[in-house]
Amino acid sequence: MKPLRLGVNIDHVATVREARGSAYPDPVRAAKLAEAAGADGITAHLREDRRHISDADIERLSRELHIPLNLEMAATDEMLAIALNAKPHAACIVPEKREERTTEGGIDSVGQHNRLAPLVRQLGAARIRVSMFIEPDKQQLDASRSLGAPVVELHTGAYCDATGAEQERLLEKLREAAAYGDSLGLEIHAGHGLTFANVKPVAAIPEIRELNIGHFLVGEAIFVGLENSIRRMRALMDEARSVHRVAAK
Ligand code: PXP
Repeated sequence: MKPLRLGVNIDHVATVREARGSAYPDPVRAAKLAEAAGADGITAHLREDRRHISDADIERLSRELHIPLNLEMAATDEMLAIALNAKPHAACIVPEKREERTTEGGIDSVGQHNRLAPLVRQLGAARIRVSMFIEPDKQQLDASRSLGAPVVELHTGAYCDATGAEQERLLEKLREAAAYGDSLGLEIHAGHGLTFANVKPVAAIPEIRELNIGHFLVGEAIFVGLENSIRRMRALMDEARSVHRVAAK
């Protein structure tokens, strides 16, 4: 089976810093620790309202990291200019509403096709790997492909929030979307809301190549430290992948 990468989102280290307007804790230090703990990449969301990650954080992350940076960004001219200047390895296009607490749904690649097309084109021309953060839905996958994005990230938030049979149904939707997206030639990522308790069924989906995980890892770090929290997540992902390998024989 194809390897599964872990992208660690360090936004909420900056959330703690911004709660006091202090200089600490430093999300770049967290990113370097994550790198040492086995993260394959770092994800950071520069929000329009700068509620956690700042422009200076993005500049430092682009300069100081040895692993790929995935910049989560809204589809705005301001963010496009920042991305073209910072030149991260990847840019994940997310919807953004000021009043939301977190990214509440996927971007509408169908309805906003004409607005998104030039943005995706310009990022691609700058050799930034574009990923569309979408709901696990065929139409969204088709539209992302027709936009020319090489990658999609499937929103796992609804699956993570659900329980019982509903969670199983939503997992099946993720499986179907991953298989369909892969058949279109898209690279499949997933993320949002993943924890030690719910990560394994998603990590076992063979077409998924990367998971982006943040809030839970930073919360768990309070109790066990960031490196331990990341190492445990990595181990659960690897276990899910290897069980699937044995089952597939
Ligand atoms: N992927 C995307 C596109 C996101 O917007 C977020 C949240 O910023 C994540 C992954 C990580 O979600 P969480 O912090 O819930 O692990």
